[in-house]
Amino acid sequence: MVQQYAISEYPDPKKIIKQLDDLISKPIYSIKPEALKDYEINYFEKKCPQSKAMIEDARNLIPGGVQHNLAFNHPFPLVFTRAQDAYLYDIDGNWYYDFLQAGGPTVLGSNPPEVREKVINLLHSCGPSTGLFHEYEYKLAEKISELMPSVEMFRMLNSGTESCMAAIRVARLATNKKYVIKMGGAYHGWSDQLAYSIRIPGTKWTQAHGVPRHMFKYTQEFFPNDLNDLERKLKLNQARGGTAAVLIEPVGPESGTRPLYYDFNREVEKLCRKYGALLIFDEVVTAFRIGMPGAQGYFGVSPDLTVFGKVVAGGYPSAGGIGGKKEYMKHLAAGIESGEKHKKALIGGTMAANPLSSAAGYYTICEMEITNAPYKAGQIGDRLTRGLQKLIQKHNLPFVAFNQGSIVHLETVGTMHFSIDWKKIWQIPQILKETGARKQEMEHMGAAYMAEGLVTLAGSRLYTSAAYSEEMIDDALQRFDRVFANVAKKA
Ligand SMILES: Cc1ncc(COP(=O)(O)O)c(C=O)c1O
Repeated sequence: MVQQYAISEYPDPKKIIKQLDDLISKPIYSIKPEALKDYEINYFEKKCPQSKAMIEDARNLIPGGVQHNLAFNHPFPLVFTRAQDAYLYDIDGNWYYDFLQAGGPTVLGSNPPEVREKVINLLHSCGPSTGLFHEYEYKLAEKISELMPSVEMFRMLNSGTESCMAAIRVARLATNKKYVIKMGGAYHGWSDQLAYSIRIPGTKWTQAHGVPRHMFKYTQEFFPNDLNDLERKLKLNQARGGTAAVLIEPVGPESGTRPLYYDFNREVEKLCRKYGALLIFDEVVTAFRIGMPGAQGYFGVSPDLTVFGKVVAGGYPSAGGIGGKKEYMKHLAAGIESGEKHKKALIGGTMAANPLSSAAGYYTICEMEITNAPYKAGQIGDRLTRGLQKLIQKHNLPFVAFNQGSIVHLETVGTMHFSIDWKKIWQIPQILKETGARKQEMEHMGAAYMAEGLVTLAGSRLYTSAAYSEEMIDDALQRFDRVFANVAKKA
């Protein structure tokens, strides 16, 4: 079967960046206070009492009353009991369109029976884990390597965070260099060395509370879309031992919230070759959402190492992995090849590559391939984006909607479009204050969407899946219409 990519037309970054610049230069537009109050009373208080009671009890036992950083907090998080296809159901029996998709892994939709049945069979035969090799480890590695030519070898791990940690460790061993340059604003998990410049380019260590500053001695950032900035850093590092790796999200930081120029990845690849740094693609979100060969297939780039997460376990636990060229992957610990003399990076995990996750990942990827799911989810993403753009125009709002296939961005406040310039250090407190106020309004918008039966990612991103029909998207758009009708400039 011919596989198609999720992106039918690459977004025009110049146009979108201009729109986002305009958005953050304007006052905040958000849900009117009286409309928010109405949602709080008539939806959350009246229709979600069991969620409210459980979260109140949970606050005594669970920090913040909620485990997951993608959960909505305003006015209180909801408790979900069922997920199927494109729908979520809360404990009070309300249903929602699911545009969170567990943060990205469920391109087929939630809980697809084709995968669930295989997982149940596996549980009957060997349970979820043995701590030993299982055939699904092999099948998953073989499948991924077949789909992505740069992945000559694959190693499954527990999470995207862990896999990014592993990738930079391997890069340092393989190159004998120390510096790692990441793109400003990108999220590569929450490990000590990569909790740097998260969400807002230029923020450096300022959001890494609890991490000693010296952990970032060899972590650097470059501004998205700025090849000169990257080259400057590569050159500077050359004089002091060299750059081990450049680590990027191929559609742009935060899953393309700040879109990259189409050729950008290829230019970064060239710079990596010129300066002897490994190119690491963080495809935690994009593999296999952008297409079965990942974003690297779409952009025609061959990274040295690729980081996996999310889809790699099909929405089941322990979703992580690292893949790449043999000459680098040989630096991962576990197993012995005869005659090996090179050093190996300490990497482990009791639950890493357990049979359940490996089988779930394997069958998910096979099913996505058979059904052309990335393409279908991308088409749905296009329809949703076009509909949102029309609504933005209809209500004359400064909002910006764009998509990279099934990754749909709906920017109402543009928090992540701010950046920090340390040469203008006096501006930093004001920028942090402004982004804080905007983030709060994003939460209010998220609460309004939720009350209209729309679960989004942080009120600003919507993942679509192949489980959506066009009719469902049209219905979802009517709900967005109702929210947008109640938006006004904040007093
Ligand atoms: C691009 C990217 N890299 C890494 C991670 C971290 O993955 P995990 O949450 O599995 O640790 C995420 C999580 O959202 C991500 O989006």
